[in-house]
Amino acid sequence: MDVEKASAAKKVKITADKTLMVLSGKGGVGKSTVAVNLAVALAESLGPVGLLDADLHGPNVPKLLGVEHVRPEVRDGKLIPVETPYRVKVVSMGFLLPQRDSPLIWRGPLKMKAIQQLFDQVKWGKLDLLVVDLPPGTGDEPLSVAQILGGADGALIVTTPQELARLDASKAISFARKVGAKRIGVVENMSYLTCPHCGKEIDLFGKGGGRKLAEEMGVEFLGSLPFVPAVIGAGDRGIPAASLEEVREPFVELALQVWEWLNREPA
Ligand SMILES: Nc1ncnc2c1ncn2[C@@H]1O[C@H](COP(=O)(O)OP(=O)(O)OP(=O)(O)O)[C@@H](O)[C@H]1O
Ligand SMILES: [Mg+2]
Repeated sequence: MDVEKASAAKKVKITADKTLMVLSGKGGVGKSTVAVNLAVALAESLGPVGLLDADLHGPNVPKLLGVEHVRPEVRDGKLIPVETPYRVKVVSMGFLLPQRDSPLIWRGPLKMKAIQQLFDQVKWGKLDLLVVDLPPGTGDEPLSVAQILGGADGALIVTTPQELARLDASKAISFARKVGAKRIGVVENMSYLTCPHCGKEIDLFGKGGGRKLAEEMGVEFLGSLPFVPAVIGAGDRGIPAASLEEVREPFVELALQVWEWLNREPA
């Protein structure tokens, strides 16, 4: 892929100290869960944190934060991000679709335009951190976001431990390199389940794939998250795991690790 020629989206001046794209090769590996919980965990100690849901076809972020029925205000012709109870401001295509089950049937150029508008038609205000949740793969949305953010300060690749996810994730890493992400890191999600009976760790999808991928591709391994059954129900109820005392620890730990990495000189 020739990113230079692939065109279109123009850089937008974002007043965020740090910008982070959350990507993956495969669908369903936990990008939205990671993006939402990173934003929530970091908003506790940072100033304003923005979360842009750039998954146009499957915008899940409003639901994960319990604000899917909110309609954002428009002021001076610009969209005001939706404030959540977690001090994270959110913008998502999900807020703009007429109904929750309305499908979006758009070709590439329209999608690029929509992404562009989610940046420059929104009053983001000054942010300490902008997290962008992306759809799986390396299509129009990730490309537009990467171009708009000038590569972004960090590209976080989410993977699960098994071989198949790893192979796809390596494509996302190559993509992040091509679009000039300043740092690339890997997070392994659903790494293990702690047995509720004996407390032993069960490797649901194999072991160590995220770290291996990072080593093979020469990027940073930022940590892993366990499979936490409570995360699923909490997500369905619009409560992020990072706000739940019983399960928040690994999410907060990962968030701090990511923030430290974003503020370190790129390798
Ligand atoms: N660490 C975890 N423990 C338990 N369940 C998880 C975990 N991470 C994600 N899940 C669950 O897995 C499902 C998929 O997660 P999520 O929607 O975050 O993935 P995604 O990569 O954003 O998917 P898509 O590619 O469709 O955007 C959700 O039901 C979510 O609650
Ligand atoms: Mg998602």
